[in-house]
Amino acid sequence: MITIALAKGRLMEKAVNLLEIAGVDCRQLKQPSRKLIFFTPDRQIRMILVKPNDVPTYVEYGIADMGIVGKDTLLEEGRSLYEMLDLKFGQCRLVVAGFPEKQDVWITRSHTRVATKYPNIARNYFLHKGKNVEIIKLNGSVELGPLTGLADVIVDIVESGRTLKENGLVILEEICSVSARLVVNRVSLKMKNRETKALIDNIQMALEERKNGEVN
Ligand code: PRP
Repeated sequence: MITIALAKGRLMEKAVNLLEIAGVDCRQLKQPSRKLIFFTPDRQIRMILVKPNDVPTYVEYGIADMGIVGKDTLLEEGRSLYEMLDLKFGQCRLVVAGFPEKQDVWITRSHTRVATKYPNIARNYFLHKGKNVEIIKLNGSVELGPLTGLADVIVDIVESGRTLKENGLVILEEICSVSARLVVNRVSLKMKNRETKALIDNIQMALEERKNGEVN
């Protein structure tokens, strides 16, 4: 049996669609329910629904053989696992954002407060730039940081750009692009090689199929 950890939230629907194209029967999981563990009818695959930040943890510890999670979460969590495929959906940018009029001020200010759900990414980013910042960890609605005066800027993901725009904020710097990734436990890849490899191949084929579908 293979266990897949799926990130609850914005990536979930697309992850399930991709798994279905890859031949994984997700009908049970699509029923309205508060259950957290689902099996395919043949019980060859178990799916567990976890918070995005916990996907790398479950995969690193081998509770899940593989997982589907955003690259932003992987960068933040820094877990030891294999990143096998870029699944191309959930494409976002990790950015520094703030008020447009603060643009010059924050670059020259000696002490900047940064609100973010991604403290490790933000710390590393500013460390490489040699900029001394104070990181303030938030768990959501990060845009409120500058709006309320808690922080000067934010480090956050931008997808459509709507949240920034509607709150009067702009992108000041781009850190990197991110998207959903298929990650695999290091031991599972060796010990369950045949099963994991077959599923990875099917997911890769599903990706191709979806890509061709979009083109046609
Ligand atoms: C994310 C992110 C931004 C927003 C960006 O938050 O932190 O706030 O989405 O998306 P957009 O560019 O399409 O507007 P999420 O919706 O995950 O909610 P949260 O603030 O509760 O974390």
